[in-house]
Amino acid sequence: MNADILKRVVRAIADGSQNDLDRLADKIVESERLTGHVRLAAQLEAILKQPRPKRPSASPIPPIADIERTLKELPLSRRHGESLATLLTTDALEHHMVLPKAIEDRFARIEAEYAARDRLRTFGLKPRKTILLYGPPGCGKSLGAKRLAWSTGLPLMKVRFDVLISSYFGESATNLRTIFIAAKERPCVLLLDECDFIARSRTNSKDIGEASRIVNSLLQLMEEYDAPGLLVATTNVESSLDSALFRRFDDVFMVPLPGPMEIGKLLRMTLSTVRLAEPIDWGALVEHLSGASAAMVVKAAQDAAKAAVLSGRQVVTQANLLQAIAEQRRTNASAHEE
Ligand SMILES: Nc1ncnc2c1ncn2[C@@H]1O[C@H](COP(=O)(O)OP(=O)(O)OP(=O)(O)O)[C@@H](O)[C@H]1O
Ligand SMILES: [Mg+2]
Repeated sequence: MNADILKRVVRAIADGSQNDLDRLADKIVESERLTGHVRLAAQLEAILKQPRPKRPSASPIPPIADIERTLKELPLSRRHGESLATLLTTDALEHHMVLPKAIEDRFARIEAEYAARDRLRTFGLKPRKTILLYGPPGCGKSLGAKRLAWSTGLPLMKVRFDVLISSYFGESATNLRTIFIAAKERPCVLLLDECDFIARSRTNSKDIGEASRIVNSLLQLMEEYDAPGLLVATTNVESSLDSALFRRFDDVFMVPLPGPMEIGKLLRMTLSTVRLAEPIDWGALVEHLSGASAAMVVKAAQDAAKAAVLSGRQVVTQANLLQAIAEQRRTNASAHEE
């Protein structure tokens, strides 16, 4: 077998790409036949034709051993030996989301590309792997990362910036690199949650502190990113996202405030486990919640449901809901005043 084919076989094994292996096996048979090893070629062909054990063609679930390894070996900070990330396994993840269709499609496309990653690779194409989610608070950026982990079957590795950012010169960058190495060795969704400094630091040319050093090393690490899993960064900063950022991420999109239709769906979804007193004026509730974040809508519905359960009636009324919404509005208003 020539060195080129041998290298490609080993690479396909390392990548776990069955499609590449299948194509290479055909190539090997052909090459043996051409070099006159007709009997060997026929034997190899017969082996390839044998029925194979059934397995999903592009299984979104990484091998259990990989997940177990990820759980055991979280990267540690250089100086204090503290864990640089927390890890959530797939079954522990909240993942039901209500989104406008255009945004739902963006998430679904990432999931579809990940599931078809082997097939894409045979055409020299890569799935979207690095994603930046931005938008107002409480609308599903962190939840979006959990959902992506859930639907790809990957564990979620959330970076702990409190441990990562060190006052020692250059150490934050070293810690960040350690995390990227860990993510390369073990498939996961690497979550850089609330990293507003990505967006801010580059627009502030006076910032020459540790934050801007981290941004620079992050951007560099992103440029070289070739881990098997996904990377999701989130930020609240809505305006002034640098075009350099858009270039470095495979996908950048906003997770917006829910519109009237989404507010209605969020209410119904959250109240699906309790009984409702008829009639509920959904239109009026949606109007009262206009401009609210998804988190606020969910919280108001949960509070109304809890109040009904505690009252012993177990039935949620329009009055329960209106009261919970008013309370959420008051809490939100005083939070903004502070
Ligand atoms: N689009 C959504 N669909 C369903 N539930 C949602 C959605 N967005 C938010 N929620 C609910 O609100 C909670 C908080 O949302 P999440 O933490 O994802 O917001 P965020 O955008 O990351 O906010 P922040 O900017 O404050 O970090 C979720 O755990 C979920 O219960
Ligand atoms: Mg968040």
